[in-house]
Amino acid sequence: MKKVILIADTGIDDAIALIYALKNPDVDLLAVVSGYGNIERDKAYRNVEYLLKLADRTDIPVIAGATRPLSGEDPIFFPNIHGAEGLGPIDPPIPEERYSNRTNFRKLFRLIKDNPGEITIVNVGRCTSLTIAWYLSPEVMGNVKETFVMGGAFLVPGNATEVAEANFFGDATAANFICKNVPNLSVIPLNVTREALLTPNQVDFIASRANTRLEKIIDPILDFYYEVYQEQEPGIEGTPQHDLAALMATLDLPGLFTYKKRKVRVQHEESYANGLSIADFRPGTTDCSGEGCSRIAMEIDQKKFVKQVIKVFADYREK
Ligand code: BDR
Ligand code: CA
Repeated sequence: MKKVILIADTGIDDAIALIYALKNPDVDLLAVVSGYGNIERDKAYRNVEYLLKLADRTDIPVIAGATRPLSGEDPIFFPNIHGAEGLGPIDPPIPEERYSNRTNFRKLFRLIKDNPGEITIVNVGRCTSLTIAWYLSPEVMGNVKETFVMGGAFLVPGNATEVAEANFFGDATAANFICKNVPNLSVIPLNVTREALLTPNQVDFIASRANTRLEKIIDPILDFYYEVYQEQEPGIEGTPQHDLAALMATLDLPGLFTYKKRKVRVQHEESYANGLSIADFRPGTTDCSGEGCSRIAMEIDQKKFVKQVIKVFADYREK
């Protein structure tokens, strides 16, 4: 069982990743760090609390992450993709507790200290909170076993700009810091996660087997997401599950991903190419090793991905 800390900007596909983590017996979700990104930090925080409540898992701490990028610029949100509240058509109730009661980074450090060499971090939002954690305490963060980041786009167009993916674009300085400094890093980029599609038929099948309050929100939020994608990319067969793909990568399922090892850098000086992720895939280049070398997902086996999703969400195994 993997001990996982999820860092998210919950967000529709983040919510799907969170639900998967809650439902999969191979994942022991220790905490969720909520930062800004798809929506404001406070809304993302509230969404995680809402989902944990639906799952009867309010024992899992939600840690308040960053509210803006390291540059200090105002963040750019994406209500057009995730809905005004971040969960498509769902309007989660506003919690009663005051913001000042929120759990902070001390809890994150405590969890890592208590589980040295055992924790997997999956970052599926901007890299700001993770970078701040490393700035604050490299000693403690050095005890993390491995880190997975959903972000970047290699060899293909981005989604936030022509060349940049949203998570890396949203805080390019932080993304570059993480790629350069965090050991045992796997980068799961957009060009791979956009192949992790769930079609409406597959979602209908999951919906037909949904019993719990948590499972029942999968259908409406993915219907909303599908409509958004149909407008953006008419004819796309389903919805790309960016964050779920990154979460699944932590489970090392045989043959699900192929990887290459390269140094990754993110363009973060103010320029037209801000957020652009760069790695050297020129012919003749080979896997790197040592410091600053990351594993980059190159391909996902779409059939295996869908099988895994159905198995966990719909409790269904093909004969
Ligand atoms: C990433 O950006 C967000 O919109 C998604 O939640 C995902 O983490 C995809 O570029
Ligand atoms: Ca996300």
